[in-house]
Amino acid sequence: MENTNMLRYQSGFCNDFASEALPGALPAAQNSPQKAPYGLYAEQLSGTAFTAPRAHNRRSWLYRIRPGAMHHAFEKLQQPLLASGPFTQVDTPPNQLRWNPLPMPAADQSVDFIDGMVTFAGNGDAAAQAGIAIHLYVANRSMHDRFFYNADGELLIVPQQGRLLARTEMGVLEVKPGEIVVIPRGVRFRIELPDGTARGYVCENYGAAFQLPELGPIGSNGLANARDFQAPVAAYEEREGEFQLLAKFGGKLWAARIDHSPLDVVAWHGNYAPYKYDLSLFNTINTVSYDHPDPSIFTVLTSPSDTHGTANVDFVIFPPRWMVAEHTFRPPWFHRNVMSEYMGLIHGAYDAKADGFTPGGGSLHNCMSGHGPDAATFEKASNAELAPHRIDNTMAFMFESRYLIHPTSYALVTPLLQKDYLQCWHGLKKNFNGQP
Ligand SMILES: [Fe+2]
Repeated sequence: MENTNMLRYQSGFCNDFASEALPGALPAAQNSPQKAPYGLYAEQLSGTAFTAPRAHNRRSWLYRIRPGAMHHAFEKLQQPLLASGPFTQVDTPPNQLRWNPLPMPAADQSVDFIDGMVTFAGNGDAAAQAGIAIHLYVANRSMHDRFFYNADGELLIVPQQGRLLARTEMGVLEVKPGEIVVIPRGVRFRIELPDGTARGYVCENYGAAFQLPELGPIGSNGLANARDFQAPVAAYEEREGEFQLLAKFGGKLWAARIDHSPLDVVAWHGNYAPYKYDLSLFNTINTVSYDHPDPSIFTVLTSPSDTHGTANVDFVIFPPRWMVAEHTFRPPWFHRNVMSEYMGLIHGAYDAKADGFTPGGGSLHNCMSGHGPDAATFEKASNAELAPHRIDNTMAFMFESRYLIHPTSYALVTPLLQKDYLQCWHGLKKNFNGQP
C-alpha cells in the first residue's frame, strides 16, 4: 500500500481539473479520439443534464482500462438498516429527538462502510432527485474486493472517528475527523479504514450537487474558500478477480459480479470529481457588535432547490470561534424554523447544550418544532460576564433542509433514542413577574 501521507491533490472547488497517472494518457486537444492513448476506453460521466447552464454543468471524461458497462447483472441485496426516500415507514412526530452514538461493531463482527450504514432520517424522493437521507456509519473492515456507487445521490461523508481512505475512479482521498469528503453521484469507490475502525455521518443528497454558497455583501472571500477544496489525482488499479460492484439505485441496494476493479481510470479531466475539505480552514464570520447572527453564516456547502434561496440541504458547521457580542445572549437563540434541522457533533461540546449531545450522536428539530439552549446553558449565558470568549475544541454541524425530515422506524425504536430529551427545557424557569 502506498504511504498515504504522500497523497497529492489538485486544489479548487469544481475546477476543470486534468490528471494522468501515465504520461500522455490524457488525449490532447479532444475528448474522444479514434484511438485513445494506451488502448484506453474514453467514457464521459455526466453529473448534470448535458444542457445544464454552464455555471452548474458538471461532467468528466475518464480514460479507463475497461468501460463502465462491463459487469454482470445486478440483483437486489438486503441491507435492512439502509433506507431511502420516500420515507413513509412511520408517521413523523413533531417531537424534538436526540440520539446517542452508534456503538462500534463488536470485534467478532466484520462490517464494512456499506454494511455499517444505518439510516436515521430523510426526506424527498430519491427517484425524483429531491431531498436527502441521513445515515450514520460504523465499520471495522476495509472494502477491498467490493466497490460501490450511488445513483440516487452524492454522498457527503463526515468522519467522526477514524480515518477513511476513499479509493475512487478519479483517485485516492484520505479524510480524518474534522475533514469531509464528497463523492459525486455515480462515482465508483471503495473505503479502506487506516485506523481499523471508523464512525461518522453521511448526508446522501438526492438533489442538486453541493455548491459553495453565494457570499453577497461578504465579498469575494470568506466562509469555505474555493482554493481549500482538494480533488484527487489520477490513480488506477489494474486488478482482475472475483469482485462485487454494489449500487444504490432507486432506493435499493443492488450487487453485481465484476471480474476487474472498476477503479481503472488512468487519466481524467473535467469538473465532476470527488473532493475533500478541512473544516478547520473555514473562515468563520460572526458578529463584532451584538446579537447572534442566523447560522446560515456558517454554511460550508449548499444544495439549492428550485425555490431561490431555499436549500434542498445546507451543510452548516459550528466551528471554534471568538464570541465578542456586547449586551447579547450569546448562545444560539430559541428558535422555530420552517427549515428542518438535523445536528451532529464531531468532537467537543455544542454551545447550546450543556450535556446529552455527545460526539457521534445526533438531534432532530423538525419544521416549526421549538428548540434552543437547555436550562443550564440559558442560566449560565444570561448571567455570564461578556468578556471576549473563545469557544474552542468543538465542531458541531447541521444538515438543514427545506423538507420535513422523517425519522426511520429504526430511529424511533432504537434504544439510542433519548427518551428524556425534552426534559432539557423543562427546567427553564418562569422569570416573568410583570415588572420590566
Ligand atoms: Fe434552529
